[in-house]
Amino acid sequence: MKLEHGIISRVQQANDIVDIVSEHVNLARKGKEMVGLCPFHDDHKPSMYVNPDKQIFKCFACGAGGDVIKFVQMREGLSFMRSVERLARRAGINVNFSKQASNGPRSDVDSADIEKVNRWAMKFWQQNLQNESVGARCREYIQHRKINEKSIVEFGLGFAQDRWDDFLSAARQKQISEKLLLAAGMVVKGDGGLYDKFRNRLMFPIIDASSRVLGFGGRTLGEDPAKYMNSPTSVLFDKSNCVYGLDKARHEIVSSGRAVVVEGYTDVIMAHQNECKNVVATLGTSLTAGHGKLLRRFAKDMVLIFDSDIAGAAAAERALEICLAEMIDIRVASVPKGKDPCDFILSAGGEAFVELIGNAVDVMEYRWARLSEKFGNSDNLTDRRRAMEEFLRTVSTALKGGKVDAIMQGLIINRLARILQIQPEDIRKEIERRSRPIERAAANTIENVKISKIDTGIGFGAKAQEEIIEAVLNEPRLFESAAKRVGANDFDIPVLKESWQLLEQRLTGNNEFSLAELLGQVESQETARLIVKLSDNGQDVETLRKRLAGAVNALAEYNIKKEQTPDDLSDEELRKITSVKGKPDRRNPGLMPI
Ligand code: GTP
Ligand code: MN
Repeated sequence: MKLEHGIISRVQQANDIVDIVSEHVNLARKGKEMVGLCPFHDDHKPSMYVNPDKQIFKCFACGAGGDVIKFVQMREGLSFMRSVERLARRAGINVNFSKQASNGPRSDVDSADIEKVNRWAMKFWQQNLQNESVGARCREYIQHRKINEKSIVEFGLGFAQDRWDDFLSAARQKQISEKLLLAAGMVVKGDGGLYDKFRNRLMFPIIDASSRVLGFGGRTLGEDPAKYMNSPTSVLFDKSNCVYGLDKARHEIVSSGRAVVVEGYTDVIMAHQNECKNVVATLGTSLTAGHGKLLRRFAKDMVLIFDSDIAGAAAAERALEICLAEMIDIRVASVPKGKDPCDFILSAGGEAFVELIGNAVDVMEYRWARLSEKFGNSDNLTDRRRAMEEFLRTVSTALKGGKVDAIMQGLIINRLARILQIQPEDIRKEIERRSRPIERAAANTIENVKISKIDTGIGFGAKAQEEIIEAVLNEPRLFESAAKRVGANDFDIPVLKESWQLLEQRLTGNNEFSLAELLGQVESQETARLIVKLSDNGQDVETLRKRLAGAVNALAEYNIKKEQTPDDLSDEELRKITSVKGKPDRRNPGLMPI
């Protein structure tokens, strides 16, 4: 697939990076930049910087970085081309992807396609509901549930008719491919062919913080044993990573600092209808780490409301793990007398619900209280010991899974000490004893490897290559003098070689470039990260010039040495090659960097 000339810079200019990042991350201004929690790693304090002047983003913790296209690429898991296409469409730019690559229909269905079908389906079901005769029965049901007109519109409710092909035939008329309909889960395949998955149901669209229609929940209007049905898991929709109502609740969650999580669709709607607008729901699953990560981007703390005490006890154990692993404060409360929040609000009112939220207790204390009950709230030492064991087991398991630093761990231990009324030192010992073996194993998890440093090699050869790129990125006018002595062949580290080649392309016979423009040429996320990392080091031209001269000499020396066999080198020389600034590299002592 080839892009027409100039399209990338048009797409970049039409999509402000602050707008795009804001769709996924809550950004706050900090000087000339904006900061927020990085969505590419498990971030606990804002490490993602977005620079509106340069139109780039950069995470100081995990090193993710790039331009607006790279952000979309990483965030949505799309290819470079698809990201350009997505952003172009968003800005209303017509992209003429040349024909050669699009022979026939694309074979893969991606998240953007499913979102489009979902959006169309949402409108289709809304029209059904609004249609005077078709929608009458469903509107009656809605009225019976005390959902008002405003909520119907706000939550985009719709109606799937009690027919086998109401949706299917409309979609066929619209020439939406069957493959796509199946992937989006609107239709299912039976012996007699395709038929509508959602029939005789009140439809709740599930919309994310950037207004994408991820999928649907449908409640039966009849006696179907499946009271609710959800869209199937797809590249777009995954129940354990999204919540219902976030698009409506997001603003209030940010301003109140709190996300209230209930269990049902109707609970969310009734809460909002009664002016509690920071309320969202999980989608028939208990709280997951994915929910924790998602909500933590917007909220400082969370309150979980359980329908009943009994189900709440088990769910609270999960919640405690998530609270510790994801480092978000979680409080819990249950609705009295086995009602759900929807019933409760209808009978007791919105203010009583606010009070219920306000009285929620810290999940750690809640958990301990439940365990003490279970083991008998007596002075019996054995019982107390067993309760404590179980409690500490949960806490240790959770702590080893999370990325809790020493300070946080200290705070948690103090809190535990207060709850359990034992010495912090004893708790610390107990936790350490339990988590040690797992800590070691955790060092090699994929996530840790993924966010580790970009491997630009070791030794002074690698360092020299990096310094050359850094100098030119920060002072493009130095390119010319560098290019007199250095060429692409002198670089043997792939990311650095690619960076040099890009600089060569932009700067031959030219003295300037913008960072975003340069990044627009980069398809690889590693290279984008590296370029963002090396740019903007704040040094003045003279310093950069000196460093460049030193690096060019070092690289020449390195390339000569590389030709020689290791046997020709003295120990001293060997050490120089394999280490930065003469200090042996601990990662790779005594090995040649080639
Ligand atoms: P109403 O009976 O309409 O008031 O529903 P509710 O929201 O009170 O439902 P309930 O408390 O029974 O369940 C809470 C949530 O669990 C629902 O909103 C759904 O997300 C989910 N759920 C309930 N029943 C089913 C089911 O049969 N299938 C699936 N997939 N999810 C369900
Ligand atoms: Mn319920």
